[in-house]
Amino acid sequence: MTTKILAFAGSLRAGSFNKKVIKTAVEGARAAGAEVTLVDLRDFPMPVYDGDLEAASGIPEHAKRLKKLFVEHDGLMISTPEYNSSIPGTLKNVLDWVSRSEPGEGPLTAYVGKTAVLMSASPGGLGGVRSLNELRRMLANIKVLVLPDSVSVSKAGEAFNPDDSLKDAKQAAAVQKLGKSLAETLAKLKA
Ligand code: FNR
Repeated sequence: MTTKILAFAGSLRAGSFNKKVIKTAVEGARAAGAEVTLVDLRDFPMPVYDGDLEAASGIPEHAKRLKKLFVEHDGLMISTPEYNSSIPGTLKNVLDWVSRSEPGEGPLTAYVGKTAVLMSASPGGLGGVRSLNELRRMLANIKVLVLPDSVSVSKAGEAFNPDDSLKDAKQAAAVQKLGKSLAETLAKLKA
C-alpha cells in the first residue's frame, strides 16, 4: 500500500536553505517508495490568525486547501528555519490555521494519527536545533508522532551546491535517511 507524505519548508523565501534541505529528504522518501507531495508555503498565502475573521468568514481558502492536503497524507516532513530561538511566525500561523476545525469535524483532524520527521537549517552554528525542538514539542502536543531522528544543517550559507544538494555526503545521506525512515515507519504502521 502506498504511503503518502506531505513535505514543506517553514520559509517563504525563494533562496531558503530549508527549501534546499527538504528536497534531499524528499529524495530519500521517494527512493524508499513513498509518494511525496512537496509544497511551497508561498502558494498558500493566508492572513494572520484572527478569531473574529474566522467567526465572520470561516477558515481562509488557502488554509482549507492546505488542511485538505494534511488530511490526505499519512506523514509530514518539515524543515524549519529558526527565528529568535523558535519557529518562524509564518510556520506557526500556518500550523494554527490548519489546526482549526470546521463545523461537524472532530478536533485536530489534520494532525491526529500523522507521523512526522523534522529537520532544520540555519547559517548559524546550531543549525536551528532550538526551533526544531520547539516544533517537535508542539507537534507532539497536537497528537503527531514525531520520529526521534532529525538533522540540523549548520553554517547553511556554505552547505549547498548550486543544484541545492548538500556538499557534505554524510550529511546528505543523513537527511535522505530521515525521508527513508519516515517512509518505512509509515509502511509498517499501515501494514
Ligand atoms: C533569524 N535567524 C536566526 N538564525 C538562527 O540560527 N537562530 C535564530 O534565533 C535566528 N533568528 C532570526 C530571527 C529573524 C527574525 C530572522 C529573519 C532570521 C537567521 C535565519 O536562520 C536565516 O534567515 C535563515 O536563512 C532562515 O531560513 P531560510 O529562509 O533560509 O530557510
